[in-house]
Amino acid sequence: MFETTMYTGDRAQDYATVRSQLMALIDGETDIVANLANASALLNHYLQNINWVGFYLWKEDELVLGPFQGLPACIRIPAGKGVCGTSIEEERTLRVADVEQFPGHIACDAASQSEIVIPMIVNGEKFGVLDIDSPVKNRFDEVDERELEQFVTILTTRFAQII
Ligand code: SME
Repeated sequence: MFETTMYTGDRAQDYATVRSQLMALIDGETDIVANLANASALLNHYLQNINWVGFYLWKEDELVLGPFQGLPACIRIPAGKGVCGTSIEEERTLRVADVEQFPGHIACDAASQSEIVIPMIVNGEKFGVLDIDSPVKNRFDEVDERELEQFVTILTTRFAQII
């Protein structure tokens, strides 16, 4: 059963716990949607001050909404559009301290103030993005970026074995 009381407040330690929880959840499971659904629930449970966390998946040259936690969101995002479309096009993490300052930001939830998007590349191919929104400005720092990139690497490594 999933244990809800394992976090200590030490971010490096807690992110490591989250990664262990992710590995336990996806171990032996080959269904990608199920794994992404649990991954979004895990992050939503752990992260404070966020209003949306989830995945967009790369399908026929655009991003399509995948498993997430939060309000209903935009379904399709073209390559190069918004934070997500730019992240997948450039295949790099984007950490946006103030979404109002990001040209072309797509406002799915008016509450969102800052955002981090991490691209997912599987077997050298675009796979999708992890997108997290916060209702406060400057929510995500370099620690979040580094730790969340490691979280995504667990997923992409697993998916490389499945696809
Ligand atoms: N803000 C994103 C769109 C997705 S929502 O935040 C869930 C963007 O600009 O790409």
